Amino acid sequence: MDVVEIKEAVDKAIENYLYEKEPRLLYEAVKYLPSAGGKRLRPIIACLSCEAVGGNMMDAIPLAVALEIIHTFTLIHDDIMDRDEERRGMPSVHKKFGDNRAILAGDALFAKAFEILSHTKDAEICKKLTRNLAIMAKEICEGQEMDVAFEEMESVGKEEFLEMIEKKTARMFEHAAMNGAMVGGGSKEEVEAMKVYGLNLGMAFQIWDDCLDVIGKDIGKPVGSDIREGKKTLIYLYALEKYGGKIPNYGKKDATDDEINEIVEILKETGAIDYAKNMAMEFSRKAIDSLAILKESEAKNKLVEMAEFAVKREK
Ligand code: IPE
Ligand code: IPE
Ligand code: MG
Ligand code: MG
Ligand code: MG
Repeated sequence: MDVVEIKEAVDKAIENYLYEKEPRLLYEAVKYLPSAGGKRLRPIIACLSCEAVGGNMMDAIPLAVALEIIHTFTLIHDDIMDRDEERRGMPSVHKKFGDNRAILAGDALFAKAFEILSHTKDAEICKKLTRNLAIMAKEICEGQEMDVAFEEMESVGKEEFLEMIEKKTARMFEHAAMNGAMVGGGSKEEVEAMKVYGLNLGMAFQIWDDCLDVIGKDIGKPVGSDIREGKKTLIYLYALEKYGGKIPNYGKKDATDDEINEIVEILKETGAIDYAKNMAMEFSRKAIDSLAILKESEAKNKLVEMAEFAVKREK
């Protein structure tokens, strides 16, 4: 199946699985973000990984949808924590429905994900997936905690930064690829290769996301948010070292657009953006290299394209 068909199958399944109606406002908030589009990268990767090892991607739909639903749950809570009022080109859930209902909608989506996952056909595999996704979700919380804690720190080490993005973002890509291959009946070696693929793609994806936060246009979420929140991104860490002293106004919550532009100039001049872009491309390359052991197939080609897209995308 091509990527458009996978996306359609995922969208249809999301609609079917999110059937609840009452209390009305809660379920409006629950459905708001999943039905607002989004790139659906994690489900697409889960389905392609299943096919790339010889499986039928429809068997991976419960896994794929569960991942997307956990992803939307993290986005809702992330936008509360990051004080971001736009997501997928629309008002974020807490902006539209208020904090309390957004927190509840996130919680409900998190629970729904495991209900959806339970529709996985093979009972043995289903048990493994449930355990894996539970551990993954816990690690996302650990990564998000590091992300928030780093805001208060002047600087953090590169290793700590890499651990933070591995947990908050890359782990979910790792689980999409690895568990997708497991559903597809992949060998131990294939599942391991897909795990390495997903992890590296996820690292590339987050570092690129950090670049878009600084230099992106119309990304469907607020540009400059990481600067205002004082996020310790690789871009900031590199710039801090080159600039040789505190970067004025970095982390100023109510910074004006002019102040943000001045910081963006510093980040550019120090070479920090190029540095981060190169790092993202290196991770993407590693992801692609890990596919070498897979037999040639249409799905494998698509997985290569996904890893390229992660560091080419404009939103
Ligand atoms: C955004 O993920 C959150 C990050 C990990 C950077 P996506 O860029 O995949 O968001 P959607 O699903 O397409 O909206
Ligand atoms: C996303 O990090 C990580 C999770 C949502 C778990 P960001 O905070 O950078 O994501 P965006 O930029 O808001 O999408
Ligand atoms: Mg955010
Ligand atoms: Mg965040
Ligand atoms: Mg971001």
